[in-house]
Amino acid sequence: MQNIPHVPVLYREVLSAFEDIEDGIIIDCTMGYGGHSSMILDANPNIKLIAIDQDQTAIDFSTKRLSKYGDRVTIKKGRFSAVIQDILKEFDISNIKGVLADIGVSSLQLDQKERGFSYESDNLDMRMDKDAPLCASKVVNEYASSELENILLEYGELRNYKKIASEIIKNRPFHSAKELSDTLKPHMPHGKKIHPATLLMQAIRIEVNDELGELKSLLHSLQEAHFPEALVAIISFHSLEDRIVKQTFAKWAKSCICPQEAMRCTCGNDNAIGKIISRKPIMAKDDELKENPRSRSAKMRVFEMDI
Ligand SMILES: C[S@@+](CC[C@H](N)C(=O)[O-])C[C@H]1O[C@@H](n2cnc3c(N)ncnc32)[C@H](O)[C@@H]1O
Repeated sequence: MQNIPHVPVLYREVLSAFEDIEDGIIIDCTMGYGGHSSMILDANPNIKLIAIDQDQTAIDFSTKRLSKYGDRVTIKKGRFSAVIQDILKEFDISNIKGVLADIGVSSLQLDQKERGFSYESDNLDMRMDKDAPLCASKVVNEYASSELENILLEYGELRNYKKIASEIIKNRPFHSAKELSDTLKPHMPHGKKIHPATLLMQAIRIEVNDELGELKSLLHSLQEAHFPEALVAIISFHSLEDRIVKQTFAKWAKSCICPQEAMRCTCGNDNAIGKIISRKPIMAKDDELKENPRSRSAKMRVFEMDI
């Protein structure tokens, strides 16, 4: 048995979201170390699974881990924004019964210092796909002040984003995440339970991997696909991502899309593509929080597509 480097979050809730799927295909857009994938394959013995990841280390690990399921599993490497479009063309849409995305980084990516995701790393990389063109060093050492300010404010929600951006520019070039976080530590918010550099690292990571763009693109492809029936479950770890999911699901569930000021409905009032299953985000229960502290910021939302 391989050593499993990542504990899947909200695993009971994911299984319960997909429990009524008896056959067909489930797509795991963020296979990682295969935790959710293998649980879904065990719990739904007649389904097939297509699993995506852009990280070669995750692909190598999970190819071995999931090999026991034989031809029930197809693994695809790439960004899910691109791969999902190929899958939607390649497979009969009526066979796709579930889509899962557990957005963000895996524990192993965070823990392997050489990947650059940790504030203690001795490089500045943070690419989930080691072949991707944009790395953290480019963002930190080459971005203009206004670009840095934007990502620090939007993705890091750092109130003193202007000061932090100006300190980055004053002190660069930086060669490692450790050097960056040590230099900037005095300017980062203190007093929270997290390390002061966490929000800075998060902002850079979201930019490097275009995490919000990826999520929006995935949701757009799902919306355009016209699924006769499919369950979509998205787990996110950042308030901006959760807001995107919440607003998209609300839009998908809207039957009337006439402008608010319209006196009467002229849109046909049949534009909903399904219904929201979870009005409130689904979050980890106390026992999971104790077992796996990384689950504390996970929020899952589920939508049932049904045209
Ligand atoms: C939180 S982990 C998923 C863990 C997985 N659910 C498990 O149980 O092991 C997220 C994984 O998704 C991958 N990932 C994140 N964004 C991606 C994207 N846009 N395209 C493809 N893979 C992505 C990361 O490389 C990482 O391995």
